[in-house]
Amino acid sequence: MDLPAVVFFGRTLEEYTRFFALDPAGLRGRAVLDVAAGPSSFTAEAHRRGIDAVAVDPLYNQPPPALAARIREDYARMFLQMRAKPRLFKFRGPGLPARGLDRSPGREARATTGFASFDEAEADRRAAATRFLADYEGNGRHGRYVRASLPLLPFLDGAFDLVLCAHLLFVYAARFDFAWHLTACAELARVSNGEVRIHPVCGPDGKPYPELDRLRAELGALGTTSAVARVNYEFFAGTSTMLVLNPQSP
Ligand SMILES: C[S@@+](CC[C@H](N)C(=O)[O-])C[C@H]1O[C@@H](n2cnc3c(N)ncnc32)[C@H](O)[C@@H]1O
Repeated sequence: MDLPAVVFFGRTLEEYTRFFALDPAGLRGRAVLDVAAGPSSFTAEAHRRGIDAVAVDPLYNQPPPALAARIREDYARMFLQMRAKPRLFKFRGPGLPARGLDRSPGREARATTGFASFDEAEADRRAAATRFLADYEGNGRHGRYVRASLPLLPFLDGAFDLVLCAHLLFVYAARFDFAWHLTACAELARVSNGEVRIHPVCGPDGKPYPELDRLRAELGALGTTSAVARVNYEFFAGTSTMLVLNPQSP
């Protein structure tokens, strides 16, 4: 994908659940931070499920009409680009349910997930933005939507049980250098008293982040262990893993 600037583009809690391997029921009552949240509906939907979620994005100082205009522009641009490059995407097989088991003859039964078409993906992600805007416009704007930018977060050490960051790190490695990635990961780890999950672990070409080993080694030296975990998700080809950071207690 050609991403000259960071796009204001977001996904649903359902999609987050898949690419972060989340158990939303198990997160009830827990403090969860979504960094680089954009117009994702994760935080709005999580609140409805009793999760104490907070979202961070540099654009959360903007009024709802400005964000709605930005969504219109960025979504149109993204879907045009995606439709022009279908080979970069993996689709759910014909006739398979959005969630369930693929029991095709001659194949071991396996979970089916994902989108059947660009139209389905577009409808889902536009629904995410609509839910986000409604929540942002309502009582959530000054409470659970916080304007901030990596690599600095305005939260106390260990303030969250789980910290998530999707589609910023690694995807924009041409814009943010190695030092930025290291400082950003260390900052995500600082505000978590549990895990940090980062997805995907590849660039806009679907290839693994080339500096991953060095990043993990330098985080290890700072006291944060890490692992790359496979997830049951892959829409953009190459996005079937997440990076899990485990900050160690002092
Ligand atoms: C592609 S969106 C991802 C939205 C959401 N996390 C998802 O996966 O659906 C990337 C977001 O990162 C935000 N962003 C850009 N620079 C950032 C920074 N330095 N720190 C945090 N967020 C940033 C952008 O405003 C944009 O909303």
